[in-house]
Amino acid sequence: MEIKVFNNEAEIGEFAGKLYVDYVNANPDCVLGFATGASPVPTYDYIAKSCAEGLVSLKNVSTFNLDEYCDLPKDHKNSYFTFMCENLFSKTDINMANVDFLDGNADPDEESARYAKAIAAKGGIDIQLLGIGRNGHIAFNEPSDEFTDEAWKVTLTQSTIDANSIYFDDIPMPRSAITMGIGSIMRSKKIILIATGESKADAVKKMIKGEVTPQVPASILQQHSDVLVLLDTAAASLL
Ligand code: F6R
Repeated sequence: MEIKVFNNEAEIGEFAGKLYVDYVNANPDCVLGFATGASPVPTYDYIAKSCAEGLVSLKNVSTFNLDEYCDLPKDHKNSYFTFMCENLFSKTDINMANVDFLDGNADPDEESARYAKAIAAKGGIDIQLLGIGRNGHIAFNEPSDEFTDEAWKVTLTQSTIDANSIYFDDIPMPRSAITMGIGSIMRSKKIILIATGESKADAVKKMIKGEVTPQVPASILQQHSDVLVLLDTAAASLL
């Protein structure tokens, strides 16, 4: 794992955003795996701004996202699809036909098989962006007794519900989601993980220095050959 520590999330956004812009300019038809949540927003802002300024084009890029809530309409304001449209897609020239998303309302097994096939048909994910949960989750792979493989339907833990329910002001937060599995994430050619804030410090320490265990799903990243971890000083404070 390569670890870089920055003063704040804005600096991370600029660094990661530039990395994406350079990568897409060199590989215009690349396949990018995206994440939702607060951590990637400054990176998405940088990419969107670069696109608006004509410094990069996403029109030939294909994308897959990590996860989606179950039992929520795709166009609900809290769906992860809406999040990506608002924070990135609508601000760029991306071709929405090249945007693939897990369907939280489909049969989980069929959806898992469809997603695996779609990713393989594109030649795999070139760069997968990740955040990390306070409990060490990646995507919605919560601490458990075994590492998962392909996408699957997960019951969210209380830690995740506590962290994300602040975004749900009209309806109760869904209790389940469909998520890319650990295997699908690990098959990405490169992984960039962003973590900011003190609440992530313990999970970051366990991910980097702890035992590789499904109780800390992010710890599996120690076994991937190309992982870049971008931290602010608070998230890096226990290293
Ligand atoms: C989001 C996702 C989650 C988040 C994680 C961190 O697609 O898969 O694993 O990356 O919960 O969320 P933030 O960035 O909001 O702290």
